[in-house]
Amino acid sequence: MADASFDEIRQYVQDRTRLSFSGHKLSLFQKKLQQRVEELSLSGLSAYKDILLASPSEESALLDSITTNETCFFRNPRQFDYLRTHILPRLEEERGNASFRRLAQGELSGNLNDMRLRILSAGCSTGEEPYTVAMTVLEGLRYPRAWDIQIVAGDLSECCLEIARRGFYETARLKGIPNKLLTKYMDNSADGATFKEEVRRLTRFMRLNLNDVMRGDSFPDTSSTEPFDIVFCRNVMIYFSSSCQQQLVDSLYSIIAPGGYLFTGDAEPLHLFSHDFTPVREAGCLIYRKTGSNAHGQTV
Ligand SMILES: C[S@@+](CC[C@H](N)C(=O)[O-])C[C@H]1O[C@@H](n2cnc3c(N)ncnc32)[C@H](O)[C@@H]1O
Repeated sequence: MADASFDEIRQYVQDRTRLSFSGHKLSLFQKKLQQRVEELSLSGLSAYKDILLASPSEESALLDSITTNETCFFRNPRQFDYLRTHILPRLEEERGNASFRRLAQGELSGNLNDMRLRILSAGCSTGEEPYTVAMTVLEGLRYPRAWDIQIVAGDLSECCLEIARRGFYETARLKGIPNKLLTKYMDNSADGATFKEEVRRLTRFMRLNLNDVMRGDSFPDTSSTEPFDIVFCRNVMIYFSSSCQQQLVDSLYSIIAPGGYLFTGDAEPLHLFSHDFTPVREAGCLIYRKTGSNAHGQTV
């Protein structure tokens, strides 16, 4: 299949997504292309290339077929333990104190931003990660109702986002969720369970191409341009080339608020890159903090 059309398609997809196709990934990509050619009953890759370039829906279908969407609830549980037991209580204390201080200084309502918690799940796949974050936040904050919690979850794959938005998961996929949380946050049915409104209303799913974020395009979350307090970007970077990974680390740094945190996947330690994050060593897992002076003048 080593023809000019194949190279052009590969280059086009790489330019659009930054996904890297080396080694066995290249042959998988070839197979997927061949499948699309057959499914669409086309004469070959040249005809497929014309359709791909002209049709956003074909681009979407191809991206759905080539992305690796493996995920599960409470993947890397240590990260969620640390979020619940350390990060959320710390944020609650810092923000709560800032609010009280403003009130004491005579600002009647304090500052609403003090109690806004913005979390991004970048490369959220079918939603297990952002829903795990939502349950953890509800468990970890002492006063969740006092917060404006925004969990923004984005992925390249429309198919994945559709599943995530539905919020329904078959029984076999629920196994990472502790029973206590399952009964508290989900409605059971014969073949699975659906997240309750209390959890769903915290999450907003949207199409996100990290390539656009790396290019510095405005973030697709139109509801706010505020930076994120916490970003989960796990098991996504590994699919990019190393120069793109460095760019992604830089881009993530720029969208995280001072004092905010970055969670990466087990195979994505940041020491291979140049960056200004501080590793949170005591967590015993891959969590990084953007240190500096936060919006409340506290050094974090
Ligand atoms: C292996 S899954 C990881 C899911 C989840 N973060 C986790 O750790 O369980 C990787 C996800 O990244 C998404 N992805 C790949 N390239 C992307 C890009 N350029 N922009 C946004 N999402 C992307 C894929 O569609 C896939 O759903």
